[in-house]
Amino acid sequence: MKYRRLGRNGPKVSAISMGRGATPVRFDTPEEAEFNAAIHRALDLGITMFDSSDAYWGTRHEVLLARALKARRNEVLITTKFGNIDLPDGKKATNGRPEYVHQCCDESLKRMGLDVIDMYFFHRVDPNVPIEETVGAMSELISRGKVRFIGICEASAKTLRRAHGEHPLTALQTEYSLWFRDVEKDILPACKELGIGYIAYAPLGRGLLTGRIKSVDDIPENDRRRRHPRFHPENLAKNVKLVAELEAMAKSYEATPAQLALAWILARWEGIVPIPGTNNAKNVELNAAAVDLSVNAKDVARLNEIFAFGAGAGERYMPNALKGVGI
Ligand SMILES: NC(=O)c1ccc[n+]([C@@H]2O[C@H](COP(=O)([O-])OP(=O)(O)OC[C@H]3O[C@@H](n4cnc5c(N)ncnc54)[C@H](OP(=O)(O)O)[C@@H]3O)[C@@H](O)[C@H]2O)c1
Repeated sequence: MKYRRLGRNGPKVSAISMGRGATPVRFDTPEEAEFNAAIHRALDLGITMFDSSDAYWGTRHEVLLARALKARRNEVLITTKFGNIDLPDGKKATNGRPEYVHQCCDESLKRMGLDVIDMYFFHRVDPNVPIEETVGAMSELISRGKVRFIGICEASAKTLRRAHGEHPLTALQTEYSLWFRDVEKDILPACKELGIGYIAYAPLGRGLLTGRIKSVDDIPENDRRRRHPRFHPENLAKNVKLVAELEAMAKSYEATPAQLALAWILARWEGIVPIPGTNNAKNVELNAAAVDLSVNAKDVARLNEIFAFGAGAGERYMPNALKGVGI
């Protein structure tokens, strides 16, 4: 593994870190054993940052992750998030009120059996609460010793600046991949300027860039990605054509398309850390190995051409979730 510093004064973390897998896991099932095996393989390969949220798998992910990491807690950084709320009617809400920040942090600490959260993220900006109030409350968590570093997700460059002015942010966590490059316009430059690290989520385009999804039938039936516009049949047909070019280039490196997609991200800026999501130990190994894949400048330029702005088909979220990003 190789290691990178997140933000100007943040921690060093594994250059490839780990996100939550796409398939929800229930307690005390064979899937939990697979989940644990994937986490333990990641630890053995030197992966040190593990991402969660109080919104993942109805809070189960936080519990499972903390359990799986318990024996080696001192070797890792656990990131979790608050404020992205799934309402019972399927709608989305967000809450950045200071008292809610404190409440969520206490609940996550209790659920995970931790004394401190290494990096705490505001999962979605609340349009009804000034970001300074939310980040102000997050900075109180630091002074009370409950959180070590803070960050926000999916904020606009303007909000990022305001938030960072209230208290230095260690990282922004926002989607970034060959398939979704809009952040290169103003968000990544703002991170570079302000010295804020960038955690790239969905670096494999939610599985699209692995080459394993050629039709919607390749996505499990109850998987919410079936509703994501990028996988709608007419968009997927276009996206699969782009991925075919990635697959062809990956072969010339004796790599998988997912590895090439990760290597491309790592080459963008040394302040970026991708967090591919998986519950699968074999995929953890493949992802970790991408740190050693060096893509030549000609191929990077070719990938930039294939996956130019606007080349990917479909919005990256369903309309209700899309309203909550870039605020
Ligand atoms: N801050 C936010 O708002 C936000 C939003 C979304 C996600 N996230 C975080 O970002 C993480 C990553 O995003 P994501 O999981 O949605 O998308 P992703 O990492 O782009 O793709 C995950 C998919 O790729 C597959 N995969 C992973 N490694 C692979 C490999 N080496 N070969 C083939 N397939 C592979 C996984 O399948 P298997 O499970 O079968 O391996 C899964 O279906 C999440 O897990 C979460 O922690 C954050």
